[in-house]
Amino acid sequence: MATDAMPHIEFDQVSFRYDKSTPFVIQDIRLQIYTGDFVALIGQNGSGKTTLAKHVNGILKPSLGQVLVNGRASQAYKRLEMARLIGYCYQNPDHQIFSQTVEAEVEYGPKAIGYTPEKVKEQSAAALELVELTHRRKVHPSMLGRGERQRLAVASILAMGVSTLVVDEPTTGLDFVGVTRIMDLLASWNSRFNTTIVIITHDISVVADYIPRVVLMAQGRVLLDGPTADVLQSFGELKEAAIRPPQVTRIAHALNLLDGTRSIVRVPELVEALLQRR
Ligand SMILES: Nc1ncnc2c1ncn2[C@@H]1O[C@H](COP(=O)(O)OP(=O)(O)OP(=O)(O)O)[C@@H](O)[C@H]1O
Ligand SMILES: [Mg+2]
Repeated sequence: MATDAMPHIEFDQVSFRYDKSTPFVIQDIRLQIYTGDFVALIGQNGSGKTTLAKHVNGILKPSLGQVLVNGRASQAYKRLEMARLIGYCYQNPDHQIFSQTVEAEVEYGPKAIGYTPEKVKEQSAAALELVELTHRRKVHPSMLGRGERQRLAVASILAMGVSTLVVDEPTTGLDFVGVTRIMDLLASWNSRFNTTIVIITHDISVVADYIPRVVLMAQGRVLLDGPTADVLQSFGELKEAAIRPPQVTRIAHALNLLDGTRSIVRVPELVEALLQRR
């Protein structure tokens, strides 16, 4: 995370409620995300992750405070202008997919934001290639498996030329192969193209294995924000947020391997610590 440049996205004391007569569901959020960051947003059901994430590209506007995108308030952006900057993938891809073919689905976004037909074709083909769905482009989206639908939803957003992705629970309901494919893709875009990625997930081992920074939420507030290994070994805060640390971290803790000098959130780290102790 570069700290010298202006944040790409900044939450400045943001609070939000869905209705004036109901309580705030996120409160006093202060958060800075830099270009190229890969951030996991974790927290229990109802802690406000989706609500926070929908503020990143202005789907929701703060009730108090402001969200700055490249230094400018999210309210000041025109809808299409924002759509070219930051893509948002919904929690359930089936709420997002509505076209008759995979190809038409991916072309919808770039068409809607006014790209030329050539550019629509070019960007859609490139996005399908990236998510490895080119061979499926003529089929109806309902013919795709769950993992393929998830990748289609991501491709539809990527085709709009965005350099920032907000992805709400992309691995839910996927088997190991599906999880690996989508996470490998996101991780490689982050490292190859410096794509900024904010991902919401309940899968703590996905967080440990792939994502360098974690924002931990509880009851609408940010409880911790830092390097993944630090957050996932913060037993007190995780308990407060009703999140269980990774299994390997719990084992390391039970075996008194967490002496503050190393991080153990992944299997190889646990193995190494055990071998060293012998
Ligand atoms: N459209 C809405 N209208 C009113 N209240 C809402 C709406 N969407 C969410 N909420 C409420 O806001 C709070 C935060 O919900 P949110 O969906 O942001 O949580 P979440 O962390 O994404 O949960 P989950 O892990 O279940 O997806 C919850 O109390 C929820 O009931
Ligand atoms: Mg949610």
